[in-house]
Amino acid sequence: MAGGDPSRGQHSGPFRTRLTELFGIDHPILGGGLMWLSQPRYVAALVNAGCMGFITPRSFEDRPAFEAALRQCALLTEGRPFGVNLTLSGRSAGNDAVLDWLDAALRCGVRHFETAGRGPGELIRRIHDGGGIVLHKASSIRHALAAERDGADAVALVGMEEGGHPGLNELPSMLLGALAQDRVRVPIAIGGGIGHGRQIAALLAQGLDGAVIGSRFLVSEEVEAHPAYKRHLVECDEHATVAVLRSLGNTWRVLRNATAEQVAALERDGARDYAAYGDLLDGRNTRDRCYREGQWQHGMVSLGPSIAFARRVEPLAEIVATLLAEAVACFDSLDHRIRVKS
Ligand SMILES: Cc1cc2nc3c(=O)[nH]c(=O)nc-3n(C[C@H](O)[C@H](O)[C@H](O)COP(=O)(O)O)c2cc1C
Repeated sequence: MAGGDPSRGQHSGPFRTRLTELFGIDHPILGGGLMWLSQPRYVAALVNAGCMGFITPRSFEDRPAFEAALRQCALLTEGRPFGVNLTLSGRSAGNDAVLDWLDAALRCGVRHFETAGRGPGELIRRIHDGGGIVLHKASSIRHALAAERDGADAVALVGMEEGGHPGLNELPSMLLGALAQDRVRVPIAIGGGIGHGRQIAALLAQGLDGAVIGSRFLVSEEVEAHPAYKRHLVECDEHATVAVLRSLGNTWRVLRNATAEQVAALERDGARDYAAYGDLLDGRNTRDRCYREGQWQHGMVSLGPSIAFARRVEPLAEIVATLLAEAVACFDSLDHRIRVKS
């Protein structure tokens, strides 16, 4: 079923890079895995729009539920390849489960993987043993280089602007991308803060291979979340997020809501272990109260400032089309705006 063959035949799209070749996709855009929200409808929408998406196994109750999601996604993409995100957790036990999810995904025919977290070496080896390809997402060039040495086929560098967990990195995506090109040999995608096609044009113009996008896509119709939460997203500007929990070594960039304010206050007051935060950090609160009930003031709701580019809830394919049109327009206008002296 899903994705035994990474080649989708003829490439069609304005931009062809090492990443589109590697993933067999039309556009150099990856929809990064989204905890709770990378469900089959959303991931299939990404794939059907010519991008790559990744189902997040941690979002499912158990292996059968995850496998059912894989089967549903394969139906929705009509057999086109889609991916799975394997996030290694820094703090909990539970990384044993990652190998089990990999096994389930490979058995279902998935061959495209996004990994994240520390020490992906064994995971990368097992993905390759199963015939898969892997992009490892890192928040520092040091970790990207380690993943490259471990055999990653591509890396994504995510800046401190990214929604979710940008690690302890304090550097922005633009700087990481420019620095990485002199050091990393495999294809490089850049994530964090990307929500407009002109940013995609900028990274392609530098010779980078693609973009990883999460926050900008949250207002897609295909993201299965409450309309009240999406309505709030549309109203957010670039100051709507906050990065907390750096003091625990696990920075988390989230929507600035009541829960985030409580967490920030506890952190300011000296809370220095997870227990001190009670159940404020429990992702099931986010799932139940924000995503299911629309009470966006509650739960730690991963989000980055690129949400400021989202102006309406719309089909994912339209967001992708807009990003591409903006990127193309940016290249087209270069000749008019910049005179290069010979
Ligand atoms: C709601 C949400 C959930 C996320 N969950 C995960 C996850 O489970 N695993 C992961 O590797 N990255 C996760 N991320 C990070 C994204 O995959 C992606 O790297 C990031 O969103 C890119 O930056 P941007 O938000 O500025 O577009 C999440 C991001 C968001 C916004």
